[in-house]
Amino acid sequence: MSGEVLQGWWHWAQGIIPASERQSGLQELKQFLRAFTVLSPLEITLRRFPPQIHLKLPLTELQERWQRRWQERVPLQYLIGVAHWHDLELVVTPSVLIPRPETEELLEVVAATVPPWQQQGHWLDLGTGSGAIAIGLARLFPTALIHAVDCSPEALEVAQVNIQKYALGDRVRCYVGNWFDPIVPLQGQVQGIVSNPPYIPTSLVATLQPEVQYHEPLLALDGGTDGLQAIRQILETAPEYLQRQGWLFIELMATQGEAVAALARATQAYERVEILRDLSGHDRFLLAQTP
Ligand SMILES: C[S@@+](CC[C@H](N)C(=O)[O-])C[C@H]1O[C@@H](n2cnc3c(N)ncnc32)[C@H](O)[C@@H]1O
Repeated sequence: MSGEVLQGWWHWAQGIIPASERQSGLQELKQFLRAFTVLSPLEITLRRFPPQIHLKLPLTELQERWQRRWQERVPLQYLIGVAHWHDLELVVTPSVLIPRPETEELLEVVAATVPPWQQQGHWLDLGTGSGAIAIGLARLFPTALIHAVDCSPEALEVAQVNIQKYALGDRVRCYVGNWFDPIVPLQGQVQGIVSNPPYIPTSLVATLQPEVQYHEPLLALDGGTDGLQAIRQILETAPEYLQRQGWLFIELMATQGEAVAALARATQAYERVEILRDLSGHDRFLLAQTP
């Protein structure tokens, strides 16, 4: 395709970005074009296109996808098929949650908390989705064996693609099923558990931005009436799986800190229970350790 035609396309593409989202929309347009061409960021920013450009998809397909971004509010990551998270570029489809910056922080909390002697053995990622946490953990703890569980077979297919992409097939195993059900043989052997479970109360799902409520999997969002259904289940069962002084890290919603800490203490199975804040100052993570 000629650079001139792409100039015309750019003009059209920026014209359909809603005025209220012009700045962020332009950033997305640059990312969108980067994903489907071999143009450099500078060529795109300056709109200095070479005379001939190779497009990875036909122009009509690009046009249709960019329209879906604004008419249907499909998240950019689903349209380009990848999400940048931590130091990874993960494949994503509408079967998986788009991994969030808060979850990068969760991984940083794990890295800062777990002493070297426990950075090995069996670790769990419960509700792995795209495999983000499992892959992040495997790279963080190079001798650990990671068990990634999700009840969605479609999500696990995506996780497998990402695990292969980072050549971690020998250290990250995937299981389909309900939380701990597929990994019963690991009872009493697990060094640590990391989970970003669904935690949005059902009644709030309809208040989320359209990109999230209409396009991300409900299974990844809906945490039941009080949002704590999955968290409660994980808190209650985790002690059966953890070794002595084993770790549990769970991501939560900003308003759930006190309730989750109370649930953890009520099990009487943890000697240390803390709620940690994210970079925005909101309660975001549970850290618990068995005696
Ligand atoms: C909030 S998403 C987290 C995805 C990914 N770990 C991340 O942080 O981006 C929650 C995940 O939990 C999975 N899930 C929901 N209920 C589950 C259950 N009962 N057992 C196992 N996984 C479940 C969903 O399919 C979804 O992939």
